[in-house]
Amino acid sequence: MARPAKAEINLDALRHNYRLACKVAPDSQAVAIVKANAYGHGAVAAAQALQAEAPVFGVACIEEAMELREAGIQQPILLLEGMFSAEELAVARQQGFWVAVGHRQQIEMITQAASGQALKVWLKLDTGMHRLGVQPGAAVELYRLLAESDNVADGIVLMSHLACGDEIERPQTPKQIQCFADTLAAISAVADELGQRVETSLANSAGTMAWQDCRRSWNRPGYMLYGGNPFGHSQENADQLQPVMNLRTAVIALRDIAIGECVGYGASWCAQRPSKIATIAMGYADGYPRVVKPGTPVLIHGQRASIVGRVSMDMITIDVTDLADVQLGDEVLMWGEGLSVDEIADCAGTIGYELLARMPARVPRVYLGK
Ligand SMILES: Cc1ncc(COP(=O)(O)O)c(C=O)c1O
Repeated sequence: MARPAKAEINLDALRHNYRLACKVAPDSQAVAIVKANAYGHGAVAAAQALQAEAPVFGVACIEEAMELREAGIQQPILLLEGMFSAEELAVARQQGFWVAVGHRQQIEMITQAASGQALKVWLKLDTGMHRLGVQPGAAVELYRLLAESDNVADGIVLMSHLACGDEIERPQTPKQIQCFADTLAAISAVADELGQRVETSLANSAGTMAWQDCRRSWNRPGYMLYGGNPFGHSQENADQLQPVMNLRTAVIALRDIAIGECVGYGASWCAQRPSKIATIAMGYADGYPRVVKPGTPVLIHGQRASIVGRVSMDMITIDVTDLADVQLGDEVLMWGEGLSVDEIADCAGTIGYELLARMPARVPRVYLGK
């Protein structure tokens, strides 16, 4: 029998979540964001599962885009950080990749390239996140440079990214929306003069689910496709998401320990009552965070049991004293249906995005619902 640690990936749930992203924003199209190996779920499998519905996929870099092309994905693929060299630009043109550009050098790389296949370009605007994007004051000039170039296809997409879309009460998102709208108005005047169309894109998952004014020509949902809830609390649309990854393993050892006996490295947890301890095949080398706080839950027989002692590289110990009849080989859920990755991330002082995206190759992905 193989080691029982595995990440079950429910592709029906992935499709359900993609459809939800489309349903909540019926006037937009949704780019399916599958960067970082589809947030750890397997980019090729995720893209294949969505290829009948998603018009475009979004990745971070050309290597991720080529992986999808080589697997037979034919849609346009948006490079969210654009291209890093003239060679990458040539590949992007040849492969029909779309490029997001966020500074003058990237833009001039396109406009000064030899004429040839016209590229679909997304012009990234810094509306306040201050990470990537051209400044609002330079946007009209840079838009014109692109729009007047034969190397650029009609329908340039003005895009920006939200810093705080997951925090509804904070003022940043309305400010970003306003900046976006003001810059769009100025750019649209130039587009009209040149007889061109402008498309728009502002929403990530949080923007798609919660911010009506962020829903534009193109939304860019990522985390929500995998069933993650970016808000950290109940939200009308997020409550309808289905977890895609079930991280599972099984009990590989069981023992009774007496009061005062301690468990695991550093003897950090000691029994205060006669206890039954289950050891499971899962550790930080399987992507489970070592830093989870004491009492972090797992599910056994659908019931919660607590992690006790330190998470080691390949194993974790669980207090199953209060659970009836736990046996060797019994299945254990680390996160997924009934125990959200967001809750476990919270116990580790991080976000579910990180836990999913860091899922290592050693954990076999088992695909359901192909
Ligand atoms: C530019 C851009 N768009 C969209 C996304 C998807 O965001 P989310 O996973 O929050 O939906 C990301 C993710 O970081 C991004 O960088």
